Amino acid sequence: MAVQGERGRVLVTGAAGMLGSQVLLAAPDNLRAVGTDLQAEPGVDFPGADLTDEASVAVLFRGAGPLVGVIHCAAYTAVDQAEEDEQLALAVNGTACGVLARACAREELPLVLVGTDFVFDGESEKPYREDDPVAPISAYGRTKLVGEREALEAWPEGSRVVRTQWLYGPRGGHFPGTMLALARERDALKVVADQIGSPTSTLELAPALWDVLLSGEPGIYHASCEGACSWYELAVATLELAGITDVEVSPCGTVDFPRPAPRPPQSVLDCSKLAALRGRPLAHWRTALATYIAGR
Ligand SMILES: NC(=O)c1ccc[n+]([C@@H]2O[C@H](COP(=O)([O-])OP(=O)(O)OC[C@H]3O[C@@H](n4cnc5c(N)ncnc54)[C@H](OP(=O)(O)O)[C@@H]3O)[C@@H](O)[C@H]2O)c1
Repeated sequence: MAVQGERGRVLVTGAAGMLGSQVLLAAPDNLRAVGTDLQAEPGVDFPGADLTDEASVAVLFRGAGPLVGVIHCAAYTAVDQAEEDEQLALAVNGTACGVLARACAREELPLVLVGTDFVFDGESEKPYREDDPVAPISAYGRTKLVGEREALEAWPEGSRVVRTQWLYGPRGGHFPGTMLALARERDALKVVADQIGSPTSTLELAPALWDVLLSGEPGIYHASCEGACSWYELAVATLELAGITDVEVSPCGTVDFPRPAPRPPQSVLDCSKLAALRGRPLAHWRTALATYIAGR
């Protein structure tokens, strides 16, 4: 099952997305990452494949192969929209994981599936471990949990779920990017200070996904940058690191920014299992944020 040392192709789904695009770039030298996504964009070798459909996934595997593994980054990620559109979110986040896992099982391919902290309710005072009870409080969280379960049930010997959170990176829309854009337009920003998590750079997460594919065991891993903060603290750090000093940032509560989907208030993940596998944790969120901002 281990693909260490083999030369071959690894299918990366969601290759035009924030995380998938970085996973393509982080491929080890001895493997070729082939990207698939709904859109035809640079890095996407196989555009337009609908991952919820068993037949199109079979065609995709034949066209992209021979494969030695799959890293599944495609998802329905519009968290608020999912409250109204749970059926579509379920097809993409749930059904597609089962379809991919069955395709991987047929060819005995290791599968890495990207999961989320939204499977937890966020009421724990301690960082969540992989085997802590799940209790999603949003449609997005429920559909992502179905995806985890479908994959682990369909291909228990080959599926690895890597749950992460608060992503940002060189591509795609994300919180630090939004703060920098707003800081160009406004003198003052109010940011939620009562939700705590670990901002995680795709520059840090992408290589970790490859390590889990190459040497991880089937099962669940948690993967986020070290340390934790509120969205408010993340906004302050982002502006500070970008050298923006003339915008006032003040804290507010979740109640001041009602959203369709509830967010887990405290969803820090215990990532010691991944750190043991790799011999080190992901970088601290501040260090990773500084690297990202310096590279913009
Ligand atoms: N962003 C976060 O903070 C965060 C936190 C925790 C976990 N995650 C997980 O991390 C993974 C990557 O997230 P991301 O932020 O990189 O997402 P993203 O930027 O939204 O990328 C997801 C990609 O999946 C594609 N996609 C959607 N439906 C599809 C379908 N039916 N068939 C094939 N492709 C489809 C999307 O294409 P279109 O754009 O054309 O729809 C998009 O390019 C996801 O599993 C997500 O749940 C993200």
